[in-house]
Amino acid sequence: MEKIVIKNANIVTMAGFSHGPQKGKEFGELGVIEGGTLIMSNGKIDKVGKDGEFEIPEDAKVYDVEGRLVTPGLVDPHTHLAHYGSRENEYTWRIEGMPYIDILKNGGGILETVRQNRLATEEQIFEQSMENLKRMISFGVTTVESKSGYGLDWETELKQLKTNKKLQEETDIDIVSTFLGAHAIPTDFKNNPEEFVEKVIEMLPQAKEYATYCDVFCEEGVFTPEQSERILLEAKKHGFKVKLHADEIVPTGGAQLAAKLGADSADHLLCVDEEGMEMMAKEGVVAVLLPGTSFNLMTDKYAPAQSMIEKEVPIALASDFNPGSCPTENPQLIMTLACLNYKLTPAQTLAAYTINAAHSVGMADKIGSIEEGKQGDVVVFDCPNVDYIPYRFGISHTYSVFKKGKLIWEK
Ligand code: NIG
Ligand code: FE
Repeated sequence: MEKIVIKNANIVTMAGFSHGPQKGKEFGELGVIEGGTLIMSNGKIDKVGKDGEFEIPEDAKVYDVEGRLVTPGLVDPHTHLAHYGSRENEYTWRIEGMPYIDILKNGGGILETVRQNRLATEEQIFEQSMENLKRMISFGVTTVESKSGYGLDWETELKQLKTNKKLQEETDIDIVSTFLGAHAIPTDFKNNPEEFVEKVIEMLPQAKEYATYCDVFCEEGVFTPEQSERILLEAKKHGFKVKLHADEIVPTGGAQLAAKLGADSADHLLCVDEEGMEMMAKEGVVAVLLPGTSFNLMTDKYAPAQSMIEKEVPIALASDFNPGSCPTENPQLIMTLACLNYKLTPAQTLAAYTINAAHSVGMADKIGSIEEGKQGDVVVFDCPNVDYIPYRFGISHTYSVFKKGKLIWEK
């Protein structure tokens, strides 16, 4: 395999946090090397340091990036990537004032995408997902968590889970596959949600062959904390790691449940309370925040990121990419929204999208920072510094993307 050298770079390493995410006062520690060089071979990072500090191997392909910003590959730790179809009709309804959750209660929203995916072939789901994954890569994303949940029956959930597998096999991207069979109560179980909970539990052993994580949409009118707990406890018995859509629209105690279950993350958290944050901090549950969803749903409500920092809850950021509540793959835009609405600094948003995101999907031993021995996942941004990314918003700053030590995308 070719040796690759990137030199004359402003390198953000995020080094020193493979054992645990950045939180509290250390959140946003970039570990910058100005005028830096890194060497990658056999898919891994061999060396990182100052320009001239070590010899450049003769057989290496050298990229002089002329002072550009080099960061760890971005990790998107919460997406609904594997799906077919779109819901632009609901966009107009929502602008006219119809609440997102009411659209779902009337059989639209997630259930409309379920309808579209049940009708779609596996190829259609795969092709659309691949197109969207390529767009993610163009923004600098090199690892993606991808949930099922638009089937709600085994046949269709399987189409999504197989898509995750195929995306992993046919690209260099790491796909963290999550089973979200409990994403909504399907229309035919509307009057008997308990029976559907049992159906989801029955799907778990087969789903485990395809997915690392199990997730539940714990929300008023969707799955109660008690039902969520039952599903996730069963999932753990089958060897799943767990995460949770928690406290998004109304407070239900989802954060507490995530802490109690030892989840790797609790996601959304717009309505999390003090106790929920304290329990998450104590158990080291990463808060995966999704400002694009707050923005797009016009909720005027954003997760209490500053209280989380104060309480030492580790924060990651994600797109929540999906056809309803947040149809964008763009992490750079999410960083802008996180700065303006959570008052995170640009440095904190980058830590949240790299090392902390890696922790939230259980992969921080391999990815999330530029350190010797880690995977060669690196992005070159056409920016002089980190602040420039969220500041100059609405465009893409990606210059080139390396995955497992290989150039996979170039401007
Ligand atoms: O994370 N909150 C629940 N699920 C998704 C929305 C999926 C959809 O609208 O299709 C979310 O926002
Ligand atoms: Fe989601």
